[in-house]
Amino acid sequence: MSNADSIKQRIDAHVIPTYSRFDLALTHGEGCHVFDTDGKRYLDLGSGIATACLGHGHPELATALTEQAGKLTHVSNLYYTGPQGLLAEKLVQLAGGRGKVFFCNSGAEANETLYKLSRLHNHEEGQFEILTTLGSFHGRTLAGIAATGQTKVKEGFAPAVEGFRHVPYGDLDALSEAISPATGAILVEPIQGESGVHCATPQYLLGLRELCDERNLLLLLDEVQCGHFRTGNFFGWQTIMSAYPDFTPDACSMAKSLAAGLPMGAIWTSETLQDVLGPGTHGTTFGGTPLVCAHALKALEIIERDGLAENATDIGSYIAEQIGQLIAAHPAILQEVRGLGLMIGVELAENIAAFAESQKPASVQIVNRLHEAGLITIPAGARVFRLLPPLNITKADADEGLSIIEDVIKELAS
Ligand SMILES: Cc1ncc(COP(=O)(O)O)c(C=O)c1O
Repeated sequence: MSNADSIKQRIDAHVIPTYSRFDLALTHGEGCHVFDTDGKRYLDLGSGIATACLGHGHPELATALTEQAGKLTHVSNLYYTGPQGLLAEKLVQLAGGRGKVFFCNSGAEANETLYKLSRLHNHEEGQFEILTTLGSFHGRTLAGIAATGQTKVKEGFAPAVEGFRHVPYGDLDALSEAISPATGAILVEPIQGESGVHCATPQYLLGLRELCDERNLLLLLDEVQCGHFRTGNFFGWQTIMSAYPDFTPDACSMAKSLAAGLPMGAIWTSETLQDVLGPGTHGTTFGGTPLVCAHALKALEIIERDGLAENATDIGSYIAEQIGQLIAAHPAILQEVRGLGLMIGVELAENIAAFAESQKPASVQIVNRLHEAGLITIPAGARVFRLLPPLNITKADADEGLSIIEDVIKELAS
C-alpha cells in the first residue's frame, strides 16, 4: 500500500468523519507551496482556509516557537506571562489603541465570547437576542450554529440555542424591522467568507452603526476569516471603512491567521465593554498560552517588517484584475470575481457542461481540477472557489497560480 493510502486509511478508520476530505495527503511545505506523499508540489492559495498567513515552514516562526517551547509552553491564566501581555498590547494598538482583548482557541469560541459578552452586558434590560445575517458562518458550537445563517449547519441539532434571528445581508431596512425589545446586538462578517465572499459596503456598516446607536444595541463584527491584514489592514472593517476614520464596532472576534497556523482565537472590545466579563464569567485553559502568543507576536513582527499588509493589497488587486480578464475571455465558465486584498472569491458560471455528469457542487469540482493541476484553492457555496493566499505571496507565486487557473478554465471551455 502506498504511503498516501496508508495515511488515508488510518484517518478514515480512526477519525470521526466530520470533514469530507479531498484526496490529498500532504507531508510538508515551504513558503507558498506544499508537497504530497509522492513529492508532488502544489501552490497553496488556500493557506488552510486563511490560517497559515505566512505560508509553510517559515524559519523565523519555527525558531520563535522552539525558543519559547524551551522556556515555557503553558502555565494557566492563573498566572501572568510575558508573551500574552505583549500580544494583547499589540492587538489593542492595532484595534486603535483602546479597549482590551480576551484569548481563546478558535473562531467559534471567539464568537461564543461575543455572545456571552452581549448577554451579560444586556442582562438587566432583558436584551438577550442577537441578530445575524443569512449566509453567515460563525462556527460549529451549538450557539455558533444558532448564530449561523445557513440551514445546512443546523439540521438535526434542534432545539436551537435561543436568542438568534437572521436577516438578509446588506439589507438595513430588514434589519431595522427585525429589531425587537429583546434585541441586544447585531453580529455580521465584514466579508462573508463561507457563503462565497460577499463584502459589506461602507454604507451598510455605517447604517449598522447608526441603528445600533439609535436602538442601544452592540455592533459585533466577526473578523475570523477577513481579519489579520488579509484585506490590507488589521481588521477587514478598517479596509472597508478607510474613508470613515470615526467608525468603530463595539467588539470583534478573531482567529484563523491570528497565530499564523497555531490554534488561537480572541476578541477585542471597546473600553465601554472591556470589564463586562469579569473573574468567573468566562475562561478557557489554553487561551493565550506563552507558546502560541510568542508565535503570533513573531508573525505580527514579520508582517510589519516585510510590509505584508501592502503586499496583500497589491498582489490581491493584481490577482483580481487578472481574473477579471480571464472572466472577459471565458464568460461561459467564469462569472464574477469579488473580494478585498487576499480574500478573493471567483464565481463560476451556471451549467458548465464539463461538470454536468457529477452530483458534486461545481465549487468542489473546480477545486479538484485545480488540485490535479497543482493548485490548492478553497470551495465556497455552490459555485465559488476562494483564493486566500499567505500574506507573503510573491508576484511569481501569483503568476504561477493564475497560469494554472487559466489552463484549467481553457480546458473547461474547450
Ligand atoms: C467568519 C467565521 N467565523 C467563525 C468561524 C469558525 O472558526 P473556527 O473553525 O476556528 O471555530 C469561521 C470558520 O471558517 C469563519 O469563517
